[in-house]
Formats: sequence, structure tokens, C-alpha cells
Amino acid sequence: MIDPQDYKQVLGAFPTGVTVVTALDDDGRLVGFTASAFSAVSMDPALVLVCPSLNSDSYPIIKRSGRFVIHILSHEQQAIAYHFAGKGHDKGQGVQWQRSELQNAVLEGAVAYLECRVWEDYPGGDHAILVGEVEKLWCAGHELDPLLYCRGKMDQLPETLRALAHAS
Ligand SMILES: Cc1cc2nc3c(=O)[nH]c(=O)nc-3n(C[C@H](O)[C@H](O)[C@H](O)COP(=O)(O)O)c2cc1C
Repeated sequence: MIDPQDYKQVLGAFPTGVTVVTALDDDGRLVGFTASAFSAVSMDPALVLVCPSLNSDSYPIIKRSGRFVIHILSHEQQAIAYHFAGKGHDKGQGVQWQRSELQNAVLEGAVAYLECRVWEDYPGGDHAILVGEVEKLWCAGHELDPLLYCRGKMDQLPETLRALAHAS
């Protein structure tokens, strides 16, 4: 048996970006959750994955709707990350978003987003492994940098990495 504290400490040492996964319920209301468990899977077909907790209120709605959007948050969106990490409140309240052409809920201000159709939903212990087929994607220019997450803290790119990333 792995000690949960050790597990969190070890996994927390792996820096990630921060995403928000959104969907619309049957009444057109925005749902969503903050997720660091996001990965590329396949280029052809274009597949990505996120891992929602089985306790997530958004997860059954995402499954039901069959579509979702993964937003890669910008360094200016820490408040959005905490907003979508909260439970039991209206996630659309105080958030700028609009319906896309594909009828997905797209948030304003992200570095990039991927509009997905549910491709497969695998069991993953106390989480699900939700694989999405990318139907459309979008990326901002270099004026926005991604938000980073490490050891429970969020911040922007360190200046050294920022300079390298902007030079390319
Ligand atoms: C930085 C960060 C990363 C997170 N990553 C995940 C994740 O990958 N999967 C997950 O299920 N929850 C993750 N969470 C927690 C969810 O965002 C949180 O449980 C949220 O309340 C779920 O919302 P819902 O129940 O309305 O779906 C993360 C939270 C934070 C702050």
C-alpha cells in the first residue's frame, strides 16, 4: 500500500500546466473542472486525455454530452483555475465564455484550447481516463504564457525559460 502523502509528494514534484475542462449540461449550463492530469495520446487520429475523479460533478455531464473542451490556462488565469477547482457552485458565474461553432463552451483568455468528442472512457481506479478526439484546436500568440503547477503552487514560466521560449 502506497502512503497517500508520499504519493502526493512524489507526483507533486512533476511540474505540469493547468487545464480547465468544460462542457454544457442538458440546459446549456456551463460545467467544468480544473485538471493537471492532461496528456497528448496520439497524432493520427488526434487524441488527448484527461483524468477526472469519479467524485467530479462535471464528469457524468461530460460523458452524457459526449463533448468537452480542454483549455490550457494562461499565467493570468490563476483565479479561473481556483474557480473551476471549487465544488457545488455555478461554474458559469463570473466567467467569460461563449458557445463555439461546434456548440462547445469555450472560455476566454486561455493560451490554447482543444475541442473534443468523447472517443473512449477507460476505468482508472478512483479516476476515469477520458480520451478525447480533437475536432478543433486553437492557440494564442506569444503574448500569453502558460500557467505552471508544481508542489501545490501555481506560477508563470521562470524568466530564463520564458526568454528561451520566446526566442524560438
Ligand atoms: C491545479 C489543480 C489540478 C487539478 N487536477 C485535477 C485532475 O487532473 N483531475 C481531477 O479529477 N481533479 C483535479 N483537480 C481537482 C478538481 O478541479 C476539483 O475536484 C473540482 O472541484 C471538480 O469539480 P466538479 O466536481 O464540479 O467537476 C485539480 C485541482 C487543481 C487546483
